Amino acid sequence: MGQAPVVYGQSSRPPRGDYGRAGADYTCAQDVAAYTEQDHATYRRLYERQSALLPGLACRAFIDVLPRLGAKERIPRFDDINDSLCKATGWQIVAVPGLIPETAFFTLLADRKFPVTDWIRTPGELDYIAEPDVFHDLFGHVPLLFNPVIADYMQRYGQGGLKAEKLGHCEMLSRLYWYTIEFGLIREEQGLRAYGAGILSSGGELRYSVQSPVPRRLPLELKRTMRTRYKIDTYQQTYFVIDSFEQLFALTEPDFTPLYEELETLPEYGADSELLIAPARAAS
Ligand code: PHE
Ligand code: CO
Repeated sequence: MGQAPVVYGQSSRPPRGDYGRAGADYTCAQDVAAYTEQDHATYRRLYERQSALLPGLACRAFIDVLPRLGAKERIPRFDDINDSLCKATGWQIVAVPGLIPETAFFTLLADRKFPVTDWIRTPGELDYIAEPDVFHDLFGHVPLLFNPVIADYMQRYGQGGLKAEKLGHCEMLSRLYWYTIEFGLIREEQGLRAYGAGILSSGGELRYSVQSPVPRRLPLELKRTMRTRYKIDTYQQTYFVIDSFEQLFALTEPDFTPLYEELETLPEYGADSELLIAPARAAS
């Protein structure tokens, strides 16, 4: 037992999860005994605040299944969620100490297992946290795993990730994840709504992403999206919009191998949608 900690991007402090608890697949037992009353209170405050913001901003599929996360007063036991999640879509959630390496992540998704960080942020981080915690992972990601189309999309993404690793194109694929599963918007009959977990678990970005005149909102298009860099430490400057989960699934169904090859020759877009002149991967 015991794995090396994982960091993505730049950070001034080491990740706080205890990776000594993780097995070879980076999963661990949910450390329920470690939760303090303050931790449960933090979860309750975040849940209350965030669920009050959802009407008119979150997509229907999310609002409808949110109650299936169970009690909102305390950090739920993952096993309790798994009873109903497994029946609904065959997915289960597994505890992890924090961010995990790409291979481990893709492998879990391909096996219909979603890694959920088990610790919660401190009371000083209610508005912003640099790493995913149990609130982001549970509240943001798990409701849509009850949706059969997203459930299949996520598994395909994991399988596609393992393939992209072999081809050396993880970065392009991760942009698709970023702009759909983390920061995706969907056009519903009533108007624009959020389905991305990074938005749905954020106090400020939910309204900003749906209503602010500042960011760009473009229809999701594979090439455009995979050519667009992203920022992890500010609200997004560009969002990509889908019409339905079925459309997302159909769009991403084809084999990406030829697409990756083509993308390598094309310039990237900055997170602010400005076209950058250098090709995605400079010829060596
Ligand atoms: N179709 C993609 C491929 O061949 C896999 C994938 C599916 C990626 C769904 C993202 C989402 O690589
Ligand atoms: Co996330």
